[in-house]
Amino acid sequence: MKAVAVNGSPRKGGNTEILLRKVLEPLSSAGWDTEFIQLGGKKIRGCTACYRCFSTKDALCSVKVDVFNECFEKMLAAQAIILGTPTYFTDVSAEMKGLLDRAGLVSVANGGLLRGKIGAAVVAVRRGGGTHAFDTINHMFLMSGAIIPGSTYWNLGFGLEKGEVAGDDEGLRNMEDLGGTIAWLGKAMSPIWAVMRKLSQSRENRNERKTGRAVV
Ligand SMILES: Cc1cc2nc3c(=O)[nH]c(=O)nc-3n(C[C@H](O)[C@H](O)[C@H](O)COP(=O)(O)O)c2cc1C
Repeated sequence: MKAVAVNGSPRKGGNTEILLRKVLEPLSSAGWDTEFIQLGGKKIRGCTACYRCFSTKDALCSVKVDVFNECFEKMLAAQAIILGTPTYFTDVSAEMKGLLDRAGLVSVANGGLLRGKIGAAVVAVRRGGGTHAFDTINHMFLMSGAIIPGSTYWNLGFGLEKGEVAGDDEGLRNMEDLGGTIAWLGKAMSPIWAVMRKLSQSRENRNERKTGRAVV
């Protein structure tokens, strides 16, 4: 099983990254393949509302000038997606917002690509607004049919300066607990995912027979 953690902070090695890597630790220990993706600081635009994804239906965004599709394809290949962001004026970073809007729309346009995946939000915050950023990420997961695992608190880590969150013991314990819960949930879900894979494979085969060509 695979888990990807996407860092929406432009500050590499910063608080969001530390938190995300903590979530991945118990997953690696449980034998998951894990990948950390640096998104913050890269070029990613917002949704252009062109709605072309509803006609192309190729599981891609039609705007191909940035890192979105590369990141989204990795998310689609994973069973668990952990999205991390710093709190910026009580919300997610601009890069994370671009990812959320486009991932949510492309997923809906293609019949629910994120349905049944595990989705978790992780937030670095100095003092206030972290739960709002946490909600912003969860809103996309919730309306995409993803399954959101719980932990011991909201998935927040406190700190202002780069690396300061390493001193937030409770925050770090929460991240470890979240990773453990994702590992547990993944194990429970794996027979269901196997059935979902078979169903979508036979649907694709049927469509292929009908149209005489492979469908993407
Ligand atoms: C543009 C900007 C806006 C911020 N807004 C908030 C805020 O609303 N609330 C807060 O507690 N911290 C705020 N912060 C602080 C960051 O959320 C905090 O330093 C966080 O740990 C940064 O994570 P990082 O190291 O992964 O970038 C802001 C920082 C920046 C650069």
